[in-house]
Amino acid sequence: MKSAAVVFVFSLALVGLASCGQYVPNNWQSGGQDPAEVEVVELPFEDDGGVQQVHITLAPHTSAPGAVVVSFASSTKAEEAGVYYREEGVGQASFAQARMTQYNHTTFQNDGTYTSPYLYHALIEEVSTNITVFYEPVLTQEQGVTLSRSLRVPPLASAFGGDPEQEMKLAMVGDIGQTSNSVQTMDHITQELGDVAAMVVMGDLSYADNIDARWDNWGRLFEPVLDKIPLFGLPGNHEIETDQEDGVSFRPYAHRFQNMPTCDNGCGGFDNKGWKANMWYSYNIGSAHIIHVSSYHKYEAGSPQYMWLDRDLSSLDRTKTPWVIVNLHAPWYNSNVAHQGEFQSYAIRREWQPLLCQHRVNMMFAGHVHSYERVFPTCDNSTVDYHRGITYVNIGDGGNREGLYNNWLPGENGRAGPIWSAFREGSYGHGVLHIMNSTHAFWKWHRNNDGDKVTRDTTYIVNEVAWEAKRDDKETVKESTTFVNNFFDVQISFIPFFILVALLCYSIAITVLYKKRNAAAKRDYESLTEMSVTNKL
Ligand SMILES: [Fe+2]
Repeated sequence: MKSAAVVFVFSLALVGLASCGQYVPNNWQSGGQDPAEVEVVELPFEDDGGVQQVHITLAPHTSAPGAVVVSFASSTKAEEAGVYYREEGVGQASFAQARMTQYNHTTFQNDGTYTSPYLYHALIEEVSTNITVFYEPVLTQEQGVTLSRSLRVPPLASAFGGDPEQEMKLAMVGDIGQTSNSVQTMDHITQELGDVAAMVVMGDLSYADNIDARWDNWGRLFEPVLDKIPLFGLPGNHEIETDQEDGVSFRPYAHRFQNMPTCDNGCGGFDNKGWKANMWYSYNIGSAHIIHVSSYHKYEAGSPQYMWLDRDLSSLDRTKTPWVIVNLHAPWYNSNVAHQGEFQSYAIRREWQPLLCQHRVNMMFAGHVHSYERVFPTCDNSTVDYHRGITYVNIGDGGNREGLYNNWLPGENGRAGPIWSAFREGSYGHGVLHIMNSTHAFWKWHRNNDGDKVTRDTTYIVNEVAWEAKRDDKETVKESTTFVNNFFDVQISFIPFFILVALLCYSIAITVLYKKRNAAAKRDYESLTEMSVTNKL
């Protein structure tokens, strides 16, 4: 029996070894709650008055499902500015006139008033879907302009009549900033060029923090990515940047990003002479309806944002848009020591979670906390509900200048973490959401690991709304997929589990053989003893 016990203890040790191996990032200050700030990467720049800071987004709507917005900046005021563009396979280039805006921003950090470059936004509506578009922003209209840039317009979204079973990938990231870590994250996203339809940023884009020259540096630093992959942003706390003179907030963000200029469904939050800056808005891409909301605007029932959200969710037809994803900045679930107790998290969750669960939202992405955490599907903080729950992901790990947060709260009753926390790690990185069809999606989180992107967390997400619609035995599904979560906080990976089972079987086999051998030896001894007694007699 002794040998069997030794084998069992050894097997447990093996399993333990296989399960650990925590990665410690290079720039993490051990034990630190307040990691050192990381240097901003300054891109050398000499202004020749030309086009700079080119970035693109998509603006799909009913009459123009392939619409694109091309934004750029220049110190030159140009009434004729716009974008030449041509679809792949079409000989003749077309021209879209840009609208121009500019802003002043008075802050202590700007040491007075900063005046932005002229900011241009061109809406291209006459464009097909599922096609490559070559384009070039210009300040003057002239013949024979070389179209040196290109973007890919995704296939027709299911909301506009496209296939609800189509697949699509989105790069998801938050709290980007402009440090060496930010550059690494954006390099990794660039590696997915041609694979992802868009990049979705959960706020805190530049960490300009009232120094507007940093917005310009950010725009130039990431132009090689942002002029190819459409960006959908939302306002984080680092976008607030209140003007000291007139008290207006979000001004730089509002002028630089025009996410959905047509605002078909009444999105809003900031309207500057006809320019909708879209503090909250929604869009249809692939088979998903994606909603961006603000953690820093009024949210209570009856507020403009709440009423818009309620109306937007109520208007959805899940046979047309099977997936519904909501993105914001301040996470509703967070087991990191940092950013606990912020009302932008708990108060908005209290107000909106019933609404989102009622409409059976599939996923929510957030930023703000400079680490990665995935939360089991839930509609409250004590149960896992795979049927009606929302899968929450905090992905505020893009590379900000404030450093990583790697101190975590323990869970209930001696657990390592809260019962709702599925995976957490304090590393920089980004994620890719792969919507495979109407019922299944695959989520993958990569961390930046010394230059390589390393996959650390993966999971499948089942869209129960679409899955249920495809099944006959709907009631059975409903019964069997709602669980009280006292079981799902234990994660056992397959390999150590397999080793454990194999070693246990081996231990049992050894024990059985040992017992059999002892029984045989006993029988031999007894027969020998019997023979000896018989011989004596
Ligand atoms: Fe933040």
